Amino acid sequence: MAEGFILADEPRLFDRLEAQPSDSLLALIGLAKADTRPEKIDVGVGVYRDAAGGTPILRCVKAAEKILLETQETKSYLGSEGDARFTELIKPIVFGGQGARDDRIVGVQTPGGCGALRLGAELIRASGGGTRIYVGQPTWPNHTPLIGAAGVEMADYPYYDKTTRTVLFDHMMEALGAARPGDVVLVHGCCHNPTGADLDLNQWRELADLIAARGLVPYVDLAYQGLGNGLEDDAAGTRLVVEAAEQALVAQSCDKNFGLYRERTGALFIKASSTDQARVTFGNLIGLARTMWSMPPDHGAAIVRTVLETPELEADWRAELKEMLARIRGLRARLAAFDPRLAYIDEQNGMFSMLPLSPEAVVELRASHGIYMANSGRFNVAGLSDENVDYFARAVVAKLPEADRG
Ligand code: LMR
Repeated sequence: MAEGFILADEPRLFDRLEAQPSDSLLALIGLAKADTRPEKIDVGVGVYRDAAGGTPILRCVKAAEKILLETQETKSYLGSEGDARFTELIKPIVFGGQGARDDRIVGVQTPGGCGALRLGAELIRASGGGTRIYVGQPTWPNHTPLIGAAGVEMADYPYYDKTTRTVLFDHMMEALGAARPGDVVLVHGCCHNPTGADLDLNQWRELADLIAARGLVPYVDLAYQGLGNGLEDDAAGTRLVVEAAEQALVAQSCDKNFGLYRERTGALFIKASSTDQARVTFGNLIGLARTMWSMPPDHGAAIVRTVLETPELEADWRAELKEMLARIRGLRARLAAFDPRLAYIDEQNGMFSMLPLSPEAVVELRASHGIYMANSGRFNVAGLSDENVDYFARAVVAKLPEADRG
């Protein structure tokens, strides 16, 4: 046979691929949808739901889309940094007035928080130096695959004990005390995913001191700003560590706080050690983005820019965000009041909480009650309604481990 011909028994290119397990969080969307029981509860993937169980488009977003429809004049390319005005408007929301004026902090628009996280990891890899990225355990299940795929060495630090429902702050600090200068520490800025358990302000201060003393680089994942205790409070920890560190990364997302999930809207901010170095870093960011997605999708960022540039729409966004926050806090309070063993839920923040349930108990709850939560025991508080919160609480309390039932 002539060279270049494929032999009949040779496997074709894609035939060499092995079957992959489906993403367990995303698979829950399909499982819950397929359940025909009217009482089913989807508390799986992290999307906000209103009292009627829907995830409607925010009023301010609809209004911004109308403006864009009528006024947008071109769909021409913007470049690998995406919408620079969007990034400029997001900067003070994340870093406050003082941080926004800091020229050492540069940002680019990314396809959602995931794009930001991956771009940051690529930047760390491109910087070389044998850097390790420390990731708390447990964390969002996609963190390690998404960041690790950039080819950077990963290390763990303990974060939360599901059984005692407490942040393992001393253990965390001890583990990070062994990090080398220049190592990166991934932290959740607020609304910890999957546990809902955030550091308090004193703990953030201690962490900031450690970061400064050891020359570590914080990498903040800020995907839920505004859904924990409000936009300012939710950024307080981020601002403390970024200020304390010589260099930092912040992966920001508008997917949740603007309800833009499928539009994939986010930004990556880097604090460099000088203004000159910030310019070099920015050039590297757009170079790396060019090799991955070339340019980020525009529509979500254009919406956010339009909202933030239009005072009435910005005011309405803040009001709508407060409504979402109030609903989540109300549901947390209801769960906490139901049973003392759920009291901790009211002290946590954001969409998620983690129940000390075994994976078997989680699967049983699916079959017996149509309750769809992650195998880890993580559930989306915002997936509950005033009508089903007691049904949910009763079902999960009955499944708590023996030792927990008192
Ligand atoms: C979640 O954790 O449910 C969300 O961040 C959605 C996702 O991509 O996993």
